Amino acid sequence: MIEFIFATHNPNKVVEICSLLGENMHIISLDEAGLYEDIPEPYDTIEANAGEKSSVIYRLTGKDCFSEDTGLEVDSLHGAPGVHSARYAGPQKSAGDNVALLLQNMLGKKDRRAQFRTVISLFLHGQEYQFEGISRGAITLVPSGDNGFGYDPVFIPDGSDHTFAEMDLNEKNKFSHRAKAFSKLYAFLKEKS
Ligand code: IMP
Repeated sequence: MIEFIFATHNPNKVVEICSLLGENMHIISLDEAGLYEDIPEPYDTIEANAGEKSSVIYRLTGKDCFSEDTGLEVDSLHGAPGVHSARYAGPQKSAGDNVALLLQNMLGKKDRRAQFRTVISLFLHGQEYQFEGISRGAITLVPSGDNGFGYDPVFIPDGSDHTFAEMDLNEKNKFSHRAKAFSKLYAFLKEKS
């Protein structure tokens, strides 16, 4: 059994990653590890923030761990909100405010192409490895669906007619950036073992 601390305080991410685990892998959440401190996201790239989150937890615990950072990158907004996705509409980090601002900034835009991009940073025996997962799709005109979190109600992945928020988790995992990045991590660990 391989055991990793998952360096996030976001319960939605924990649920999604746990739904992807095989039988030989166990995830310890930060709460379970007794780590309640805020994890900084000080950098201006998704890669650097992912690395910062896992290295903070590695330095605190000395244990194998991973983190992930995700951004929504909209083509017609030159990649925004990108690394600033969580605080797009302000420090309150409100999903509703973020979605409303996104739709407002896209008013009148014909090109609604976008992608979610996840970078997972793994610390294994003190060395860092990164894995990227991308889900291409489009931003809807209005939010739809109650499942998921964040920008899920306004994103339809290529190959589907439904927003992520209209899908159950199994369905989202077939398309999602997070599932793609995690499957690369999984393949890497399998090769190593
Ligand atoms: P972070 O990776 O926690 O910094 O998340 C960045 C922002 O993207 C937050 O506003 C999240 O709610 C949002 N986000 C991250 N992953 C997803 C996802 O899978 N679907 C929708 N929104 C997401």
